[in-house]
Amino acid sequence: MCGIVGYIGKNRAIPVVLSGLKNLEYRGYDSAGIAYVLNNKIKIKKEKGKLDNLVDKVNSDIDSFLAIGHTRWATHGEPSVVNAHPHCVGSITLVHNGIIENYDELREEIDYQAVGETDSEVLAAYIDYLYKQEKDILKVLNKLKSILKGSYAIGLIVNNDDSLYCLRKDSPLIIGLGNGENFIASDVPAILEYTNKYYILDNGEYAKVLKDDVKVYLDGKEVKKKVNTFEFDITSAQKNNYKHFMLKEIHDQREALYNTLKSYEGVVLPDLRKYDGITIVGCGSAYYVGMCVKDDYEKVLNVKVDVEIASEFRYKRVILSKKHLVIVISQSGETADTLASLMKAKTLGVDTLAIVNVVGSSIAREAKEVLYIKAGVEKAVATTKAFTCQLLLLLMLVYNKNNYQKFTDLIKDVEITLAKEEYLSSLAKSIYKYNDVFFLGRLRDYAMCLEGSLKLKEVSYIHSEAYAAGELKHGTISLIEEGTPVIAIITDKEIADKTVSNVKEVKARGAYTIVITNQVVPNDIADVLINIDIEAVYLPIIVIIYLQIIAYYVALERGCDIDKPRNLAKSVTVE
Ligand code: F6R
Repeated sequence: MCGIVGYIGKNRAIPVVLSGLKNLEYRGYDSAGIAYVLNNKIKIKKEKGKLDNLVDKVNSDIDSFLAIGHTRWATHGEPSVVNAHPHCVGSITLVHNGIIENYDELREEIDYQAVGETDSEVLAAYIDYLYKQEKDILKVLNKLKSILKGSYAIGLIVNNDDSLYCLRKDSPLIIGLGNGENFIASDVPAILEYTNKYYILDNGEYAKVLKDDVKVYLDGKEVKKKVNTFEFDITSAQKNNYKHFMLKEIHDQREALYNTLKSYEGVVLPDLRKYDGITIVGCGSAYYVGMCVKDDYEKVLNVKVDVEIASEFRYKRVILSKKHLVIVISQSGETADTLASLMKAKTLGVDTLAIVNVVGSSIAREAKEVLYIKAGVEKAVATTKAFTCQLLLLLMLVYNKNNYQKFTDLIKDVEITLAKEEYLSSLAKSIYKYNDVFFLGRLRDYAMCLEGSLKLKEVSYIHSEAYAAGELKHGTISLIEEGTPVIAIITDKEIADKTVSNVKEVKARGAYTIVITNQVVPNDIADVLINIDIEAVYLPIIVIIYLQIIAYYVALERGCDIDKPRNLAKSVTVE
């Protein structure tokens, strides 16, 4: 969602902030803006649409050494120049991520006539109002914690004050530590060109950032912060020679899965056998990861496993025993609904385990136990490598001891799968002109279909549905026409015949069928038969990689904005 970058230091601030924003483009946004200090005056430029519109309007050679920038993903008020950040009221200029829930009350309290429609503009007005009374910005920032309701990461500059300020609650913010220069950012990739060292601001903390000094405070007292180091090679967050981040990240999977596997070698993983029930919670693809492992978990652990959509779980009446475990899955570690579900599980007094990619993220810090996947930075909005690494880690949790050798074979199978890219790209040519694509499978195969269908629709904008294969004839089969592509997944020996019958049903109605299987199936059910010759516990990882490659090439054929599909954001930090 929205991105924040701020810079203070020895170099020109504008190019640093703009390149930082460029590195956050993947998060999704619909307008962008920058505020910089020049000859003691704060100048602001904002543009609707792509960041390049802003880049074209700002002179990067200006001698400004303090700037804040923002990419906005509209929540309160339409995407427009007036609603874009930074917002300046009186002495205060700020950029804000999150939502101030009581902004209307605050506006009434100070009788502020807003120009735009955003909570962030009111926030600037309110801070200016407090600043006029206190005349000390650090005192004001300290007060805000008890006044503001909602979530916020704020970067702020004050008239006639050569400092950069920031504060946060429930929305991520880091302070990048350079040499003669310091940064603030909502996400690590924004600063990686300049430094890999950073502080993570905790809830309620605020900071004064100078070019060679950073002071972080909580409740009026200075706090000592731990310096974090970004552990991956910086090029892992770059596109390198790939056309899109999505394709690069599909290829990254070999290394990402290897890193995930290796980092837990010899490590004692949490014992899930001590629980009498497990609930797995996530949003979107993270939810589908849970769906993919449900059957394995129930089979191996012999307990009931529920998989819940986080936005539902957080508001649902749930009764959990004291020996229950809630597993939350999140790439970003910042998804609002998943975080709220985790907090709910904590209030219910059960154990919580987070499977997260972004180190130090809110979900990672709030969970009783956290296991990091080692996917590296994922920039394409549609998740690929984080999905398969989450799947791997969850499977390792139940199969670790008996299947370790088999897991190491995974990397070879990933390589074999990636080598089929050209073939799969030609297959995409037979699908991309259709308006609907259906996915069919049963049980775990159905879970894989859900992810395959989501991947396809989000990047290619083709309408797609995943169906539990036996359910199709209860309604949806009416949508099958001559040529409608149907992708079937058949990897479960026990019920393979059943899905084969369902594929025959759609074939008889003219469907163009693509069957992905490790079973022996009749040749005539498939227009395209993709045989995956493995029986391993990690099979879903391989199937998903096939589906990712197909989705990518279908989107490419359709000329879509693959890394930043319309309306989507990478990290969904609002409800
Ligand atoms: C789909 C996708 C989303 C995310 C979902 C959860 O490709 O990326 O469905 O999986 O928004 O995000 P995280 O994992 O960051 O909680």
